[in-house]
Amino acid sequence: MSGNPGWDPNQYLRFGEERLRPALDLIARIPHPGPRRVVDLGCGAGNALPALAARFPGATVRGVDGSAEMLARAAATGFATERADIADWAPAEPVDVLFSNAALHWLPDHAALFPRLLGCLAPGGWLAVQMPAMHAAPVRAVQDRLAQEGPWAARLAGIRSAPPILDPGGYYDLLAPRCAALDLWVTEYLHVLRGPDPVAQWAMGSSLRPYLDALEGEPGLREGFLAAYAAAMREAYPPRADGAVLLPFRRQFILAQPRA
Ligand SMILES: C[S@@+](CC[C@H](N)C(=O)[O-])C[C@H]1O[C@@H](n2cnc3c(N)ncnc32)[C@H](O)[C@@H]1O
Repeated sequence: MSGNPGWDPNQYLRFGEERLRPALDLIARIPHPGPRRVVDLGCGAGNALPALAARFPGATVRGVDGSAEMLARAAATGFATERADIADWAPAEPVDVLFSNAALHWLPDHAALFPRLLGCLAPGGWLAVQMPAMHAAPVRAVQDRLAQEGPWAARLAGIRSAPPILDPGGYYDLLAPRCAALDLWVTEYLHVLRGPDPVAQWAMGSSLRPYLDALEGEPGLREGFLAAYAAAMREAYPPRADGAVLLPFRRQFILAQPRA
């Protein structure tokens, strides 16, 4: 599976509401008048499947994901699911809405991936994508720095989280020549997190997974790495007077309809 780390639906869903919000914002803006086939690519635990079905009541909605653990949770929602690597997934029939929330940034080579996904659409279809644009933020950048610094460095050599996505202009240049309609925007959410070490807990459900996977079976190193990361997050994202921690989270949105 292309770069897909181990996923723990329970840890991921600790912040389920915050993680669902951009999906809902994107779903609300999909302009398709009446899709028949909707696919959620990288559906994870299936959080967005009911929202897609509610927005498009005439459509069959299907979730695709590479993680057996996440898919087991998605299947419990009652929607059809399929285990596949997005890198080589193709639909049996062209799709009207190809939706993906917080998944495609885990795959490399967007210059090849996005045109291929456009090719999976039926005439008049829409590709609807949201991806975190957080590579330079402390929650992500500190992971790479710390991985190279401590006693865990040898075990973490070559381990990286999701690669940086293109900047918004890069997606424009890639998609505009291929699209009849294109809508790009960036939103920075200010997630209000609570509880002990909430930023570290957030990352443990997503971007920190590759490092934690690599330290599996080394409890001392894993605990040391996590403690160092949590301390760095406390410094980078200090609590407000009421104890809440604000996590600014930048997200890139793409709505693309290919040329006929
Ligand atoms: C951050 S979760 C997002 C889940 C869901 N879309 C949501 O919004 O809650 C990323 C999901 O993408 C899936 N994923 C990442 N890379 C993948 C790949 N190459 N093929 C299939 N699924 C992949 C993971 O298994 C994971 O469930």
